[in-house]
Amino acid sequence: MVTGEWDADLEPDEFRRLGYQAVEMMADYFASIRDRRVFPGKASQDVADVFDEPLPWKGKPAEEILADWPARVLPNATHVGSPRYFGFVNGSGTMLGVLAEALAASVNMNAGGWKAGPAATEIERRTIAWIAEMIDYPTRCGGLFTSGGTMANFTALLTALRNTAQYDSTANGLQSEARSGKHLIYMADHEGHISIERAADLLNLGRRAVRRVSSRKDFTIDPEALETMIRADRARGDYPFCVVAQVGSINTGAIDPLDVIADICDRYGLWFHADGACGAIGAMLPEKKEMYKGLDRADSVTLDPHKWLFIPYECGCLLVREQEKLRRAFSLSAPYLRGTLPTEYTGLDYFEYGPEMSRGFRALKVWMTLRHYGVEGYRKLLRQGINCAEHLAERVHASDEFERLHEPNLYIYSFRYAPLEDRELAQRSERDRERVDAKLDRLNQRIADEIQARGIAFIMTTRIRERTVLRMSICSHRTTLADIDAVFDALTQIGREIYEEEDEQ
Ligand SMILES: Cc1ncc(COP(=O)(O)O)c(C=O)c1O
Repeated sequence: MVTGEWDADLEPDEFRRLGYQAVEMMADYFASIRDRRVFPGKASQDVADVFDEPLPWKGKPAEEILADWPARVLPNATHVGSPRYFGFVNGSGTMLGVLAEALAASVNMNAGGWKAGPAATEIERRTIAWIAEMIDYPTRCGGLFTSGGTMANFTALLTALRNTAQYDSTANGLQSEARSGKHLIYMADHEGHISIERAADLLNLGRRAVRRVSSRKDFTIDPEALETMIRADRARGDYPFCVVAQVGSINTGAIDPLDVIADICDRYGLWFHADGACGAIGAMLPEKKEMYKGLDRADSVTLDPHKWLFIPYECGCLLVREQEKLRRAFSLSAPYLRGTLPTEYTGLDYFEYGPEMSRGFRALKVWMTLRHYGVEGYRKLLRQGINCAEHLAERVHASDEFERLHEPNLYIYSFRYAPLEDRELAQRSERDRERVDAKLDRLNQRIADEIQARGIAFIMTTRIRERTVLRMSICSHRTTLADIDAVFDALTQIGREIYEEEDEQ
């Protein structure tokens, strides 16, 4: 028998004291973020050892636990919020977003159902409409926040499938001996993002359901090739249902020709999904408007606030032109989900519009940050990032040691350490080209690894037209031109050192 009840909450004064201490730790962190080495540069086993301790059977004072933050967690963190972090496409995290996370956790509303989160739901609905307005998407759209772009893409593709399939796939999925014809999705071969294959996986369409369409010189999808492929697949008895356009692609920030894709989708009755996880937010810049022409015609748009709106993790977002189609894809019911007759105390239940049931109050951090910076502030920050990418491209162009691979588009830029003499040597014969490329592949990987290991900056490689190259995603509201210069100088220096080493071998 249990005797006595335990009040497990902290006393208000203790909470206040610990809270101030936590805020102090965060404030100190932000004050030092620019000077920290970006990556801890430790082996995974060394980090695992720091946390190697037995299951805590007995509790300990909260103070001791908080003390672990500076002692054990921070020294083993990668500082994604650093102005010199350029990995993946990771946003920097706004300070107000940090406070919003704590406030949202304190109330602990569940934004899955209206009754469990009235303010959370209505703030989400309002913020989604603002985001649509910012990028000139119809504001009567539906949409919701997700954990990230992958979940937003999955939600879009299920909505696409449920609203276009020749039969209702709700109960039996796509399984039936009686049916033929594969459901197919189309996207560009070079820049199409892997999260679309993940979505096809989750939809049980199989990864091969994503047909890769050839790309043009500027890394955008070739619309003629797309149309030819759709026609051929249809003629074979398959069932094309969706085209995914890249709106700010993963390696080069390329934007597919949206208007042309919208025309093709209209012509063949396909769902038009715009994967703007990285770049859709750029549509809020008047000077870039032309590049985004046709975005408003997309049936759905993925856009990640945890990328180019700099909101702390996690926060993805999906907009769907016709909210009803989202509901048609996800609506379900169970006796325990409602409980009462419809009264005035009901509203939008997000669990009917997306894959998640329990949902955090993600909207708060977007709502607060957006109201803090305003559209004008955000435009300024986006332009700063674009400016940094253009400056980087100029530095690359002006150097004999680096090779330019594409025009700078938004804030993601890829380039290669490839001294002029090597590029000239590669012109001589096919064999020379292969030898030089193999050497440069190794060199570029070593440069990225080295700048990470030294803690100067976090830079990763990618593959551009089959070659290993350096890739920088300048997705931080803290990065300045001076950071770009310092990092470029460091890359040049490291490149020279490793080049000489390789030459000696
Ligand atoms: C174009 C594109 N789509 C989708 C995603 C997936 O987003 P997330 O990592 O938030 O799941 C990314 C991530 O970089 C992306 O670049």
